[in-house]
Amino acid sequence: MLKIKKDNIYKRIKFHKEFFDSNSKQILNSLKAPKVLKNVMLYSILNGGKRIRPFILSEVAKLYGVKKNVYKYPSYAIEMAHGFSLIYDDLPCMDNDVLRRGKPTVHIAFNEANALLGGASLLILAYKILSSNNFKANKNLKNKIIENFSDAIGSEGMLAGQFLDLEAESPLFKLTLQKFKIIQQKKTSLLIAFSSLTGAMLGGASQKEQKIFLEYGLIIGKIFQITDDILDVEGNEKVMGKKINKDKKLNKATLIRLKGITYAKKEVERLVSLAKNELKKIRKDTKILEEFADFLSTRIQ
Ligand code: IPE
Ligand code: IPE
Ligand code: MG
Ligand code: MG
Ligand code: MG
Repeated sequence: MLKIKKDNIYKRIKFHKEFFDSNSKQILNSLKAPKVLKNVMLYSILNGGKRIRPFILSEVAKLYGVKKNVYKYPSYAIEMAHGFSLIYDDLPCMDNDVLRRGKPTVHIAFNEANALLGGASLLILAYKILSSNNFKANKNLKNKIIENFSDAIGSEGMLAGQFLDLEAESPLFKLTLQKFKIIQQKKTSLLIAFSSLTGAMLGGASQKEQKIFLEYGLIIGKIFQITDDILDVEGNEKVMGKKINKDKKLNKATLIRLKGITYAKKEVERLVSLAKNELKKIRKDTKILEEFADFLSTRIQ
């Protein structure tokens, strides 16, 4: 029984991933950018990646009968912005990583200037995709989605989180649980919550349901980042495609640094039930999103 459930989630993740991969390849290949700049973008986006953010958006949107031809656009935009964030996150002036998705990071494979330019180009492309006429959604809704996207990524969102994450590396920085929660929410959870909220908004969900999906995304973001931090300690470099034991060396603001790994694992379990409780408030078949919470908490990649 459990096996069937597991197969189901893996199949669905694979389905969304393959769809994203083939379409984003086309989008990037059709750009009239200088060859190397385009290659940076292709290298960054098409080198693996679990595509969990497009998965969440697509599965929530599908609950409301939104067509793939509509929800695919914000899914592309999110993953392009995520690609930008990874290129920047890996730079020597940030986490200084040399391996991502099993391959040299972008600044190693190309150089720092090209990493900066390719990353910025991906973020701009995300906005182009969202504002394009191909993305057929009501004008006010589209504006709201773009505004939410900016909040999730900008200086009050992910970029703030990345700023605070670096600030907290200092041995003089006094990390508290409250400060940790703000960093984690901004650097990781807001973009994931944007994904679930956008799926619900496209589907015309009520304000109440939108709030539930926003909350679900915020909790999933926590599960996701705490698991990332646990895998940094206990994961396998080959399977994950990135170096491990980096967080301790850089004195990163993780729950493990604050409370230890046993506490962090318990917290993941607690958050998984919280995520499922949120979904119980939705009168739809949300089984796949429940399974997704389990999937994220037990992932090894
Ligand atoms: C890694 O994100 C960065 C974090 C927010 C922890 P993912 O684990 O989603 O990276 P890919 O896209 O699957 O490589
Ligand atoms: C990255 O978090 C968060 C963003 C990219 C916004 P990490 O720095 O923990 O991600 P990894 O471990 O390098 O993938
Ligand atoms: Mg980082
Ligand atoms: Mg990093
Ligand atoms: Mg990490």
